[in-house]
Amino acid sequence: MKRLAIIGWPIGHSRSPMIHRYWMERYGVAGSYDRREVDPADADSFFSGFAASGLDGANVTVPFKEIAARNARRREAIVERTGAANTLWLEDGELAATNTDVYGFLANLDDRAPGWDVAAGRALVLGAGGAAAAVVEGLVSRGFAVDVANRTLARAEILAARYPGRVVAHPSGEATSCVGEATLIVNTTSLGMKDIGRIDLDFSAAKSGAWVTDIVYAPLRTAFLAAAAERGLGTVDGLGMLLHQAAAAFEKWFGIRPEVTADLRARVEADL
Ligand code: ATR
Repeated sequence: MKRLAIIGWPIGHSRSPMIHRYWMERYGVAGSYDRREVDPADADSFFSGFAASGLDGANVTVPFKEIAARNARRREAIVERTGAANTLWLEDGELAATNTDVYGFLANLDDRAPGWDVAAGRALVLGAGGAAAAVVEGLVSRGFAVDVANRTLARAEILAARYPGRVVAHPSGEATSCVGEATLIVNTTSLGMKDIGRIDLDFSAAKSGAWVTDIVYAPLRTAFLAAAAERGLGTVDGLGMLLHQAAAAFEKWFGIRPEVTADLRARVEADL
């Protein structure tokens, strides 16, 4: 019996419990998966003392992915490269961490945008937070050069410095000038989530055949994706990233790779 939870602040919106409970039932594994809200002021002590939390493992979401990575005693290479962790477990009583967001991002595109990386050219990434770190790592691993545009230029510069010669930082005002070169455009900012504004990008210079994706999945069809579709571009919503990162996390805990089925996707969609 494994006790698991999603840890964030706030955490009420998370669909992770629904996803993992579905798989626990389907594969007949014993466990619980709850939401655990941690006050940011207590986050360091929570993660450094994880073994005493009563949990056997966890997923981590905003705003704790970096803090979780720092506090882990055993970090997979992908955590070192991104500086962020979204999946935790205990190994000999020590906190271990990986980042399955990178896989989730790539698997979603592999699944829904056939051939998206065949001619890996330039990608444009909007945002430079924890989610962007995973997206950029995934894109560089598939051979892309990446333009990162962010409201706070310094954060984009810190991200770019991890990949010398592969990633270029821009202030968000320069995003539009990068559109014409991109074969993939990704929104990693929280803008576009229900009630949190919208991100505006002028797609008129986009290459035909370019793909556009959003890591926001509530709503499924963000204004960002709708604008890209209107311009005739192929779009991929963010729900698949959530499902695929969860599948890789589930395998870490239970040793079973669960299937991301149409039925599961439909259930989560119905709950958005
Ligand atoms: P996550 O882990 O989801 O990436 P984060 O690390 O808080 O969360 O990053 C949020 C991203 O959304 C950042 O790129 C942030 O821009 P700043 O670095 O300038 O803060 C971006 N973002 C959030 N609100 C924004 C807004 N109102 N306008 C522009 N960008 C915004």
